[in-house]
Amino acid sequence: MQSKDISQVLYTEGQIARRVAELGAAITADYAGEPAEQGIVVVSVLRGAAIFMADLCRQIGLPLEMDYMAVSSYGNGTESSGMVRILKDVTADLEGKHVIIAEDILDSGLTLERLIDELASRGPASIEVATLLRKRRQGQAAIDCRYVGFECPDEFIVGYGLDYAERYRNLPFIGILRPDIYQ
Ligand code: PRP
Repeated sequence: MQSKDISQVLYTEGQIARRVAELGAAITADYAGEPAEQGIVVVSVLRGAAIFMADLCRQIGLPLEMDYMAVSSYGNGTESSGMVRILKDVTADLEGKHVIIAEDILDSGLTLERLIDELASRGPASIEVATLLRKRRQGQAAIDCRYVGFECPDEFIVGYGLDYAERYRNLPFIGILRPDIYQ
């Protein structure tokens, strides 16, 4: 069982579901008045954010497109390399659209900093960020996140999309990984 590798559960399946529903309701209220031609495109960053994206989009009561990017910022280790490379781009034309970037976690902020710059160059009507988790830590890039699920401690956390060496993404909750697993 993967759950024996978790030292502490931070957010249960129920807590995550309730918070994601709140974020979806807030997005629905905020974008409800937009003209239909300025459609919403929710862009998720593979692979970690795919689970959050799937749940969030089902809580937004408006027509939207779902699109995916893949970037690489970490290897199989625990520290950011400081490099973000686009491995797969969106297929949607973002010109004139309202883009919502769905991220699982904002850690150093390097990934989002680069992504926002990149997507802004495509001429969207707006760009906002919905991140399930934002780590409380020093040296984080100043990213304006309109929708934040939880402000989380600066621990090595896994589950609900977050991995260590590609494992634990399918845990339905989010918890702290035991240090002896990755040290
Ligand atoms: C994680 C996470 C974010 C990024 C955040 O992705 O999904 O995209 O790191 O870190 P940062 O704020 O320090 O840039 P990762 O590169 O581990 O890939 P994954 O989504 O495939 O797990």
